[in-house]
Amino acid sequence: MDEVIRKRYARKSAFLEWCDAEGLKVIGGYGVEDLRTAPLENWDRLGGPAAYCHLEGSQGFVGAMIGEIPAGKNLKPMHHMYEEQVLILTGRGATQFWSEGSKDPITLEWQAGSLFSPPINCKHQHFNGSSQEPVRFVAVNNAPLIVNIFHSPDFVFDVPYEFKGRFSGQKDFFSSELKPGELEDRVVNFIPDVDAVQLDYHPERGIGFSRLGIHLSGNSMVGHIMAIESGTYKKAHQHGPGAQVIVLDGKGYSLMWPPGGKFVRFDWKRGSLFVPPEGWFHHHFTTSREAARHLALRRGLRKVGHPWMPTVSQYEGGHLLEHENEPPEIRAMYEEELKKEGVPLRMPPIERRS
Ligand SMILES: [Fe+2]
Repeated sequence: MDEVIRKRYARKSAFLEWCDAEGLKVIGGYGVEDLRTAPLENWDRLGGPAAYCHLEGSQGFVGAMIGEIPAGKNLKPMHHMYEEQVLILTGRGATQFWSEGSKDPITLEWQAGSLFSPPINCKHQHFNGSSQEPVRFVAVNNAPLIVNIFHSPDFVFDVPYEFKGRFSGQKDFFSSELKPGELEDRVVNFIPDVDAVQLDYHPERGIGFSRLGIHLSGNSMVGHIMAIESGTYKKAHQHGPGAQVIVLDGKGYSLMWPPGGKFVRFDWKRGSLFVPPEGWFHHHFTTSREAARHLALRRGLRKVGHPWMPTVSQYEGGHLLEHENEPPEIRAMYEEELKKEGVPLRMPPIERRS
């Protein structure tokens, strides 16, 4: 490799330099096998064990901080100029939120499967509700984007500004009512159990595919919960960077590939995390007897960057690949994987145009 290119390629982003300076452990690669058991190291700013998943597909926008609250303990109070969506992986506890000058903090109680988003720069503190078991959570955030822009920890973690348009101490802020949002999304500030949310069936994106878009705390970040029935896989699609896909239930694998390039395969199960890179085609294949259920927490920022349309068929100018145009080895590989598991295929044969 040319020396100039090598030097350019070897440079670290400002965010990863900041992780080094903070002593925040970083996890790379295409996926994490199990967020619930990934090794963590103490991060002083958080006041507990943590690791930051900055996977290939994060591309400097969004990543996932795994954190732990030791049994009977709490983490440090914190506020920050990046957005964050917190999924509780194991345990139970509560988070307090407060604004400057407010007397009573708001307390939100949660358990494994709960999802919420601290309003941007709102002061908050996480508490473990058990004296016996640690709490493990994953906080998907756009800290890479914000730190890459501002570089300054003093600014990111120590600015007093309150975004009153988003949160001004409302006692009912963390409502779990699913309200209509943009397009097919729902607006909601607290989901007590992501496994219990009813999804809408979208066979045009995959014969066993259901989904519900979610938008928490007035964020620019967004997300969706999706399910892929046993013996089926989702049509390949392309989109922007940073979609953190967390596996809630089921087992399977995903294939991701840049146009014209080789497949990267990631095998997943409950607790896994993976991130398809921008513009890479990717399929999700369920190989378990039960449906796979995923939570994807994403960068958002509509109309920023390439105008990907992952829900619109390629025949209509979008980025959803129809089965007849997927690489032919895909279906054969899936049939082979299902055979190994003793799970029947529940998809019609592909009719290829001659
Ligand atoms: Fe995707």
